[in-house]
Formats: sequence, structure tokens, C-alpha cells
Amino acid sequence: MCGIVGYCGHREAVDVVVSGLRRLEYRGYDSAGVAVADDGRIQELKRAGKIANLDAALHDCPLPAARTGIGHTRWATHGAPNDLNAHPHVCADGRVALVHNGIVENWASLRAELAEDGIAPVSDTDSEIAVQLLGLAVGGGLSLTEAMRQVAPRLDGAFTLVAIDAADPQTVVAARRNSPLVVGVGQGEHFLASDVAAFIEYTREAIELGQDQVVTITPAAVAVTDFDGSPSEVRPFHVDWDLAAAEKGGFDWFMRKEIHEQPEAISHTLLGRHDLGGRLVLDELHICESELALIDKIVVIACGTSFYAGMVAKYAIEHWTRVPCEVELASEFRYRDPIVGPRTLVVAISQSGETADTLMAIRHARAQQARVLSICNTNGSTIPRESDAVIYTHAGPEIGVASTKGFLTQLMACYVLGLYLAQVRGSRYDDEIAATVAELERMPGLVQQVLDAQDVVMELASELADARSVLFLGRHVGYPVALEGALKLKELAYIHAEGFAAGELKHGPIALIEDGLPVFVVVPPRGRDQLHDKVVSNIQEIRARGARTVVLAEEGDEIAAAHSSILVTLPKVSTLLQPLVAVVPLQLFACELATRQGHDVDQPRNLAKSVTVE
Ligand code: AGP
Repeated sequence: MCGIVGYCGHREAVDVVVSGLRRLEYRGYDSAGVAVADDGRIQELKRAGKIANLDAALHDCPLPAARTGIGHTRWATHGAPNDLNAHPHVCADGRVALVHNGIVENWASLRAELAEDGIAPVSDTDSEIAVQLLGLAVGGGLSLTEAMRQVAPRLDGAFTLVAIDAADPQTVVAARRNSPLVVGVGQGEHFLASDVAAFIEYTREAIELGQDQVVTITPAAVAVTDFDGSPSEVRPFHVDWDLAAAEKGGFDWFMRKEIHEQPEAISHTLLGRHDLGGRLVLDELHICESELALIDKIVVIACGTSFYAGMVAKYAIEHWTRVPCEVELASEFRYRDPIVGPRTLVVAISQSGETADTLMAIRHARAQQARVLSICNTNGSTIPRESDAVIYTHAGPEIGVASTKGFLTQLMACYVLGLYLAQVRGSRYDDEIAATVAELERMPGLVQQVLDAQDVVMELASELADARSVLFLGRHVGYPVALEGALKLKELAYIHAEGFAAGELKHGPIALIEDGLPVFVVVPPRGRDQLHDKVVSNIQEIRARGARTVVLAEEGDEIAAAHSSILVTLPKVSTLLQPLVAVVPLQLFACELATRQGHDVDQPRNLAKSVTVE
């Protein structure tokens, strides 16, 4: 997820673009850059790091006072976060500059095609492929708008492209597919941006763009067509958010915004990692298949929420691959003198990629000759750099300290890894893998379904705002979901919350049950009756002792519903994949309860987004 700004009008483009990028820095801060079209030339400046680095560079080497420009603040997905890979990218003959948000899945085949035309991209990014194709098209006589209509349909994946042409300095052209772009409508000026935060200091009149559209702005006009050039319907709207709300997309907290970004985030995790036949494609995994086939043990290491993702991964990986999979708290791993070696695959899960406990654990594992694969959301961070291979989760920056989309995308990445290992080892048939991939493809829509039905949970948060203790129960993959639900409540509402394996209840925790005590219970799908019936029995046991049971169960589960004080309905999904939908109501509940208690949800007390000390 990156921040994009385009401008043409009567102001100095560099000032407008850079101030817009500052409003979008929450979307990515690995690098930033700006380009202007001036006097028949493209002039650009870009720097790794936050926008402050770009500011300093512009102070030392100012760009011309042009009236047309584009800019970008990057969250790296393809190519390390450095000056070379920073946007804007410029085509080989220097005529077109482009910024890009998203992932171009078919970059490799297009790069090979450019090589046949004698064009060798200079960066490691998928984005540069697009600008080189645009450069070839305008060099062949097309206008930038015509060139964009030719190039955009050839790109697979999710993208917002915004470009300028030195030979047409009063125009900015953009295209979007599965990635945000909005038009700002001013007086004698127009704006393009990832979201309205970039331009609402100049105008609150905007135009929403649809899928597969090309938009051309000049100081005087906005023209929108489909990729095939036919005129498109557009939806003008007035922005009534203040600036702070705009940066949070209209939500009150970044965390709430990130909860609602989860459908898009998990779709990006899956994007480009399987073919149309449902076979997994993990080109980025620099551990050869023959080596993966020989792995005889997997050890997942992580902390906090990421550890709970690892617990879910264990169930899936062992079921699909039949390889023993241990899950270890990173802070415990190296002190227990672990038994790892050259045939051990250590999987380090970390959103930030900087967690000291996890980093020290992988160093220990590598010293024991284990192969290390990290699942991480932050491109170029320390843990992936010190791993043999990495699967990036592509969640985009997670600003809220309490991890939400970071967790859901970790789950998705763990499922992808488990299926890939099963494919490599032949432990599941191709049709079984393809069926699960097809179900993963449906998950964004099912998560959205849960988000759309959040009233029950929001009302419950209001009722329980004064609760002093809440318990969470789950079995199988529902157990780590229960632990994650409890952690969210602890770290956001500062109240006692505890997750248990439902089967453990009678071994002690049931003594905690008292009249009116809220207990969330994650009920497995009925596909695995032995699991389902046992959890229903647990619900009966606690209800008999006065618990207020908040039951999360799949739609149509009348048995579970009969024993619920409050029922939270989940979409029907396979047992192993249920965490993707079951955790969302618990995230919403914790966020809303903490909000009603008046806490700072994005910056909870005593916590940091990345724990870089042991
Ligand atoms: C989760 O809400 C917390 N922010 C915390 O438990 C976090 O998951 C843990 O510190 C691990 O962080 P990482 O994923 O960046 O390594």
C-alpha cells in the first residue's frame, strides 16, 4: 500500500505533491519521491526513508517551479526500500515518469518482452515495467492517455498508475484496477490521490473512480474512460471529513480502519501466489523445492499475535504436509536448547520484521544450520534480511499498535506456505490443494460479510464496557483465536482477559465461572463433529454455572445457537480456515469496548508497535 499524488494547475506542483504525500505517509514510508514536467523535460528527485529525507534533498537540490507533477511515498512490496527502487520511475528515453501503488503479477513476462525491445529496467521493481511500456507507447506516437489505455489492460494484479509526459506538461494520466484512486476537483486545478487526505486542504470536491478506468486531468478538465476508451460514468462527491479523519479514511482509529482493510489486505497476500489451476507459485521463496522436500521438522517462532498465527499454522501445516510442526515463543526458543539442524525449517512470523526476541531466535536457529523462512509485512526489515527466504504478507503499513490486518495476512501467508509445502512434498493431491486455494480466494468476501454484520458485537461492547473480566474459549484452531481475542482485550481495554483451550476448562479454569461472567466461545464448523459437539458441551457446562455465553458459530448452527446468550454468526468455512473469519468479531469487540472506555486505541499504554529489545 503506497501513497500517490498527482497535480496540474496554477500552484507549484512540488509543494502540492509533497504536502499531499505527507498526508499519505501512513500508507507507506520506505521511500518518497516527486517528478515534474518542465520545459520539455522530466525532472525527479527521490530518496529512501521518510518524506523528511525527500524534503532535505529538495532543499539541497530544488526542482523547477513546474505546475504539473506526481509523487509517491512507498510501502515496499517488490524490491528493497532504497533510492533506486523509490518512485517515480522514468522510462528509458526520459520522457515519461510514473508512480505505482499495487502489485503487477505478470512483471516477469513483461520484463522479458522489454528485453527483446532492448530495454533493461534499472530497478528491482515491478512498477518500472509499466513506465517502460508507457515510454515505448508514447515514443511510438500515442498520447499519454492512449498509451495508458494500451498498457493498463496488459497488467495483471492490482495497480494504480499515475504518469506524466514531458512532451505534454499540462496533463496527468492515471489508471486503476483493484487499487484506490480519487480525483480532487479545484478551480483551474485538479488532483489525483490514493485518498482525499492528500488534497482536502485545497478542495473538498472529489470524483470517485471505478474499476478499470483511465482518467486524464488538465488544469481545466477531467476526462474518464474505460480501458477501451469508452466514456465512463463517474460519481462526484463532497468530502466532509476533517484532515485527521481523512488520514484514517473517515474512521476514528487507524486500528478500526485496518480491521476494515482486511478483505483487501488478505487478497493482496494471495495475489500472484497461485496459477489459474490452483497450483501455488512462490517464486520469491529462495529455498529450492528439493530441499523443502527433505525437511523433517518445522519450527514456527514468533511473539504475541504473530505467535497465535503460528499456532494456527501448526494445525494447517501438519494436516496438509504430515511434517511435525512445533510452535515456540521466540523469547523461549533459544533458551530451551532447541533441537534443530539442516533439515529443520524455522518459520519466523513477524509483522514489523524488527522484533528482537524473534531476531535473536532466528540467529540461533541459523547457527544450528537450520533453514529460516520469515513471514513478514515490512519489506527490507532485519528479520527477512537475516532469513534464507521470505514471504511478504503485503498488508500495507499497520499503524495501530494492536495487530489486526497483520494477523489475518499472516494467517493467509501461513496457509499459502502450508499448501505450497504439501504441493512440493506431494502430501496432498493437486485437486485438494486447488480446492483450498479456491476457498482462500473467497475469503476476502467472507471477511467483508463479517464486517458488514458487526452490530451484535458493537452493541455487546457497549453493554460490557464496565466488564472487569472476560474469558475466551476455543478448540483446535479456535484455541489460538481465543488467545488472540483475549490479547486484543488486554492490550486495548486493559482488563483481565484470558483465552483457554476449551478442553482445559474442567482442569481448573471452570472455577473462574460465576454468574454473568462474559465468556466468548469459538465453535468449530460442524464438519468435524467430534470437535463441534465437545465445544457445545463446554458451553453447556459454563452456562450451567451462570456464564453469559457469547457464541461465535457458523450460520445455521442451531445447536450452538441454542446455548448462546448472544450469537455471533460466522460464514460457513472449512475448519482450518475458520480463524480468518472468527477473529474479526473479536477485533471489532476489543476496539469498540476500548473506544467506549475512552482509551487511545491506536497507542495503548505501555505498548510499542515493534518490540526491538529483548
Ligand atoms: C499484537 O497486537 C501486539 N502488537 C504484539 O503482540 C505483536 O504481535 C508482537 O509484538 C509481535 O510483533 P511482530 O509481529 O512485529 O514481530
